[in-house]
Amino acid sequence: MARKHEYKPLIGEEKSDIQNLESPCSSSADKDNTRSYILNLILIIAVVISFSLNIVQLGLYKLNLHSVHEDGTGTRRSIYAGLLEGDVKVYWNQSGAYTDPDDDVRDHLWDQIDIDSGIVAVPKIWAKEKGLPEGTTFPWDTDKSLYFVNAYHSLHCLKNVYRAFRDHRMGAPPTVSHAHVIHCLDQLLADTFCQADDTLRVTNRSTPHVTAFQQHRQCRSFDALQEWTLAHPGCYRYGNHTLEDAQPSQLPRMRFCPEGSPELEKVRAYFGKGEDWKPAEEKKWSWFD
Ligand SMILES: *[C@@H]1O[C@H](CO)[C@@H](O)[C@H](O)[C@H]1NC(C)=O
Ligand SMILES: *[C@@H]1O[C@H](CO)[C@@H](O)[C@H](O)[C@H]1NC(C)=O
Ligand SMILES: *[C@@H]1O[C@H](CO)[C@@H](O)[C@H](O)[C@H]1NC(C)=O
Repeated sequence: MARKHEYKPLIGEEKSDIQNLESPCSSSADKDNTRSYILNLILIIAVVISFSLNIVQLGLYKLNLHSVHEDGTGTRRSIYAGLLEGDVKVYWNQSGAYTDPDDDVRDHLWDQIDIDSGIVAVPKIWAKEKGLPEGTTFPWDTDKSLYFVNAYHSLHCLKNVYRAFRDHRMGAPPTVSHAHVIHCLDQLLADTFCQADDTLRVTNRSTPHVTAFQQHRQCRSFDALQEWTLAHPGCYRYGNHTLEDAQPSQLPRMRFCPEGSPELEKVRAYFGKGEDWKPAEEKKWSWFD
C-alpha cells in the first residue's frame, strides 16, 4: 500500500508531472519514496511561496512608480503636470530670437515672456496627496491653494536678470534690486544642480568655441505645461512690481480670472462689478509702458 497516492497535486499540476518526479527505481523501498516525496513537496511549496512574494513585490514596486513617474505603459511623466519626459525634439538654436543683435527687438521679446499663468490654484486635497505643503488659500475658492510653477519662476528670474542687464546697458537707474538679482541667480543655479541635465553637447572641430552646434535634444513640452497652468488659473498678474508690491491689498492682482469661470463671478461680486467688467481682457503691463 503506497502512501504516495495520498498526495494531492497543487492547482494546475498534472498527475503526469507528479509521476515524473518519482524515482526511476520505483521498486526500492516505500520509505525512500515517501522521503523524496516529502522533500519534493517542501521544495514545490517553497518555490510557490517565493514566486507569490515576487509577484506581490513587483506589484508594490509598479504601484509606487505609478504614483510618481509612470502612467502604466512604462512612460515616465512629471509629478504634478504629468508631462511626458523627452516628449519633444528641440533644435538647440545658438542664434535664436532671444539673441537678436537689435537691442530694441530683443528687449521686446524678453519683455513678452509671460509668467502670469505660472501662478496656479489647485485643490488642497490634490496637493496633500502629492505630498505638497499647503499654500496660501485661493481667495475665490477656499478649497484651493496657490503655487508658483517653478519653470515660470525661473522665467521670471531670467527676465529680472535680463532687465537688470538692460538697465546697465542703457545707463538707467536699476529697476530690479541687487538682492533680487542675486536671489534669481541663486535660484537658477539651484535649478541647474537639481536638473543635473546629462545631455551631451556635441563638440565639433570646425566650431571650437561652440558646443551643441546643429544638435537636437529631447525635452518636456513647455506648451503642455502652459496648457496645464491655464487649466488651473490662479487669476494672477505680476505687473509692475514696484507699483503692485506697494499696494495695501494684493487682491486686485488676483482679479484676472478667465471668462466663464465660477471664480470670476466671485471676483465681480467682491469688486461690485457687473458682467461687462472683463479683467482678463485688460492690457498686460510691459517694460515699455
Ligand atoms: C533659430 O532661430 C532663428 C531666430 O528665431 C530662426 O530664424 C531659425 O529658424 C531657428 N533655426 C532653427 C533651425 O530652428
Ligand atoms: C561639424 O560641423 C559641420 C558644419 O559646420 C558639419 O558639416 C560636420 O558634419 C560637423 N561634424 C564633424 C564631425 O565635423
Ligand atoms: C512702475 O511703477 C513705478 C512706481 O509707481 C513707476 O515709477 C514706474 O514708472 C513704473 N514703470 C513702468 C515701466 O511702468
